[in-house]
Amino acid sequence: MHNAALAELGMAGEWGYEAIDVAPDRFEERVRAMPGEGFVGANVTVPHKGAALSLADELSETAREIGAANTLAFEDSVVRAENTDAEGLLRALPASPAGQRALVFGAGGAARAVVWALLREGATVDVWNRTALSARYLCEEVGGEPVSAPDDQRDYQLIVNSTAVGLRGEDVFTQLPVYRRRFTAEQVVVDIVYGHEPSELLRAAAAAGAQTVDGIEVLVQQGALSFQIWTGREAPLDTMRAAARA
Ligand code: ATR
Repeated sequence: MHNAALAELGMAGEWGYEAIDVAPDRFEERVRAMPGEGFVGANVTVPHKGAALSLADELSETAREIGAANTLAFEDSVVRAENTDAEGLLRALPASPAGQRALVFGAGGAARAVVWALLREGATVDVWNRTALSARYLCEEVGGEPVSAPDDQRDYQLIVNSTAVGLRGEDVFTQLPVYRRRFTAEQVVVDIVYGHEPSELLRAAAAAGAQTVDGIEVLVQQGALSFQIWTGREAPLDTMRAAARA
């Protein structure tokens, strides 16, 4: 996705995006060496997201409030942590969630960004998580209402799955308090889990006429924002989307 964007903008000769595997106990040392090697930034993924936040010299207000960072930017040797997951989610939605009732599943780093973003836009957010205590902690720190049993599914205009359910083929309808036949055409349903096929959750929502947003769209939108932070250039969204979907 990023290399396709760089090629599109004629930057591929000078710039590149590559995967770096690093063990947790070498993470800080590896990141600290990167500015000197010519890197302008990095994305950070599991299991390093917490470590990225604590080693950063500066945090954007968003990363600090969410308590998670997915993007690092290097300026000289200063490491700045950013979170583009939140804004990326909002850009992936078909319309602003302002004034809507939202139900969010999950309480991990992804869920924190989702809840924070929806609240900032003026939605009301109920948070359900398999481990109820984590939902309570999330809401104490980020906001939203922890619920042990959501209201009627049809009462929410927006439903977001930000758990890992579905990644390994689990049945979403037995793992989450959501019913296959209780979506409505007025809803927006988001599944941040991504794969080659639409998830069962999104299939069921689409069958009821709901608008659906898949994890690849959220991935592309957060990636485009990170691209802009690193390069200072407007990201070619269509190119990134096509590369991600391929
Ligand atoms: P991330 O930071 O990417 O969000 P994570 O912190 O591992 O990843 O979070 C995974 C989320 O998926 C959690 O909310 C987890 O629920 P628990 O807090 O109860 O572990 C949720 N999850 C994973 N597998 C699940 C399952 N089979 N049923 C319900 N929730 C599940």
